[in-house]
Amino acid sequence: MNQLFDLSNNTVVVSGGAGLIGSALTRGLADHGAAIVVADAAVDRGATLADEVKGRFVETDVTSEASMRDCFETVVSEFGTVDGFVNCSYPRNENYGQSYETMTYADWRENVDLHLNSYFLGAYLASQVMVGQQGGGSIVNFGSTYGIQAPNFAVYEGTGMTSPVEYSAIKGGVLNLTRYMASYLGRDGVRVNSLSPGGVFDNQHPEFVERYEERTAVGRMAEPEDFIGAVVYLVSNASTYVTGHNLVIDGGWTIR
Ligand SMILES: NC(=O)c1ccc[n+]([C@@H]2O[C@H](COP(=O)([O-])OP(=O)(O)OC[C@H]3O[C@@H](n4cnc5c(N)ncnc54)[C@H](O)[C@@H]3O)[C@@H](O)[C@H]2O)c1
Repeated sequence: MNQLFDLSNNTVVVSGGAGLIGSALTRGLADHGAAIVVADAAVDRGATLADEVKGRFVETDVTSEASMRDCFETVVSEFGTVDGFVNCSYPRNENYGQSYETMTYADWRENVDLHLNSYFLGAYLASQVMVGQQGGGSIVNFGSTYGIQAPNFAVYEGTGMTSPVEYSAIKGGVLNLTRYMASYLGRDGVRVNSLSPGGVFDNQHPEFVERYEERTAVGRMAEPEDFIGAVVYLVSNASTYVTGHNLVIDGGWTIR
């Protein structure tokens, strides 16, 4: 039974692997035996984490086709395969997080480009490696509850926080990109799934945290470690018949 979740023959590239969620995934996947490639723009954090998990750090810019092609070439030449690819970066411009009133069309365009297009690029290049290799591969795209549901703006009132409009469009796009790729690549042995987290606790405004927690079924925000089990499942042989699925991990936020 344990072999279902054993990743000791797997090389997994975690894009954004040095981030809040990505670093938990990096550690969790390594604990399950995977050879880990931390692909991130943050050199210090990425290299330190890769050392910790006895993995490899590759400095990448997920928004650059040349950088991502280099990354996959490096991984294939050093590890032989890319068995898992996790799209967990969070590229955004310096104005990201504006309200509906203060955002500009230029920022909308730039943020959609940075995030949605880079998710396509990483998943697309990963799939090209996976289609040609024995055993295929598994891709996990990070979505969000805001990709399936509109924000409840009451939780942000008086906190200076919001969820920007482009985020909903980006994450809705990521979820349906996942379905397209799953449908197209299924016969080639490549599975493509998305994972939609609810809000992760990160020392946000206390009023936001209180309201958010009250609206979840389990009574708390997520911790980055809450997503490890799901990603291990989606990358491993435990999920060989699972593709095109959106796994919602939100403490019951979206059922209420
Ligand atoms: N944190 C949450 O509450 C939450 C909730 C739902 C969904 N998500 C999703 O989870 C994913 C990860 O979010 P997070 O909170 O861990 O973000 P984060 O900002 O903590 O980490 C993102 C990582 O991406 C890297 N990155 C940013 N731009 C890059 C670029 N151009 N090239 C390479 N690396 C780059 C950063 O260096 C960072 O290490 C995102 O898709 C986000 O939308 C997060």
